[in-house]
Amino acid sequence: MSKKITFLILSGPTKEHIDPVRYISNESSGQMGSALAEAAVKKGYDVIFISGPAKVLPKYVKIIDVITALDMFKAAQLNFKKADIVINAAAVADYRPTKISKHKIKKNCTTSVMTIKLKQNPDIIKYCGENKHNQVVVGFALETKDLIKNALLKLKNKKLDLIVANGIGTFNSKNSTVSIITSNSILEIKNRSKNIIAEKIINETIRVFKNIKSCKVNS
Ligand code: C5P
Repeated sequence: MSKKITFLILSGPTKEHIDPVRYISNESSGQMGSALAEAAVKKGYDVIFISGPAKVLPKYVKIIDVITALDMFKAAQLNFKKADIVINAAAVADYRPTKISKHKIKKNCTTSVMTIKLKQNPDIIKYCGENKHNQVVVGFALETKDLIKNALLKLKNKKLDLIVANGIGTFNSKNSTVSIITSNSILEIKNRSKNIIAEKIINETIRVFKNIKSCKVNS
């Protein structure tokens, strides 16, 4: 019996603590990642699901909980080789504080400006793109301007096979408008539920995966 196709899906925001009560994070409900996981399970595929602290989590899927981008990176590296298709729908924090204060930082009454030093986090999906072996690697691009141009740049720079471009209208919303982009195709889906969009994304990733497999067999 042939092995089931395995998806590795990353979802939700990451939280980067400044002190025990404050943190830097990104807007992300986890709806898109959850919809992707449920669509993949519904089609009979295996899913490994890594989630930051998100409001929405998928049903029927075992969840690997993480908090920070570094935690998510470690969990993704551990599971990367098991996956045929990797999708990063997580809103990973690009930066983390260089140090986390052990105690709550007190308000300083002598100065009205406070500076927090930040260090860049690893780019998880770029790591996957650069280290893939017959795997399909998929990212998301959320942009406030030049959506398609920036998404195409990310597709190339992160060595992705497919990128899903969306605007900020997608935040906390049940519906979204997206463009599913590969190096030679753009499929636009306007104002559809995230469940329908997730199904289309899963179908597209399977199409790309089967293409890679058949190229391998024929070469
Ligand atoms: O560069 P940008 O964050 O806009 O790229 C978006 C894509 O890259 C998303 O799929 C996101 O999950 C992924 N990403 C990542 N690691 C980061 C930042 C973004 O995997 N540190």
